[in-house]
Amino acid sequence: MSPENTAAAFFTHKRDRESLPALDWSRVPAHVAIIMDGNGRWAQRRGLPRAAGHRAGAKSIRESIAAAIELGVRYLTIYSFSSENWTRPADEISGLMSLFVEVIRVELDSLQRMDVRVRVIGDLDAMPAATAGAFRDAVDATATNGTLDLVVALNYGGRDDLVRATRSLAVQVAEGKLDPRGIDDAAISSRLYTAGIPDPDMVIRTSGEMRVSNFLLWQIAYSELYVTSVLWPDFKRGDFLRAVIDYQRRDRRFGGR
Ligand code: IPE
Ligand code: IPE
Ligand code: MG
Repeated sequence: MSPENTAAAFFTHKRDRESLPALDWSRVPAHVAIIMDGNGRWAQRRGLPRAAGHRAGAKSIRESIAAAIELGVRYLTIYSFSSENWTRPADEISGLMSLFVEVIRVELDSLQRMDVRVRVIGDLDAMPAATAGAFRDAVDATATNGTLDLVVALNYGGRDDLVRATRSLAVQVAEGKLDPRGIDDAAISSRLYTAGIPDPDMVIRTSGEMRVSNFLLWQIAYSELYVTSVLWPDFKRGDFLRAVIDYQRRDRRFGGR
């Protein structure tokens, strides 16, 4: 079956089916990165505890993974826990840590079936052992999968990423293994958590906030930004599709003319 036909079977909601013809199959972004925001507000609007919002948000991830595969997106990065999220109340943090373990364990079979390779960016060593272990297991178990790379940003901060890269360069210079004049874009990129992963073509942020919140600072230099007021737990396959269609209307210039 052609991708157009399988997509017609996947995007069955009326509004999504109507959006589909606007998609240009030859210009699907290779890498989409998402700031999954708004779980707390989603719960608050329903009079539910924030934890219920995080649980609903975790379910929503499936929609974007499936949509990314359907459209032929090659890399999907999801901002799951930032290096600043440790400033939240302890009960919210411990709830998130156990939710991460539960979700990655429950979803692993399905990720395997979909040929998804799980990767992690961020400081996993500073996460609770159970959370870090569950993700390391998923990374190992899916290492040879190749349809979609699901890059999970966990305990990730863009500044922390750059600090680590800088330290690694400084060590090599101090040891006489690197000439400072040899430090260029590629030298920095290759020392970031995202080494080997192309920069995101598009960054999606849900729930309306117009900021990057310390996400992939170096890597999004020329990414197209898409902000939607939809809260993350409500962001479904059709929303992903419409974000990609919006991306395709952009005129990417990279500083040229
Ligand atoms: C995003 O939702 C999830 C994480 C940051 C882990 P929030 O928890 O930030 O939800 P809001 O922004 O309070 O609505
Ligand atoms: C960004 O959302 C981090 C994640 C989605 C994991 P935040 O809710 O932490 O960002 P701010 O605090 O609104 O900037
Ligand atoms: Mg938030």
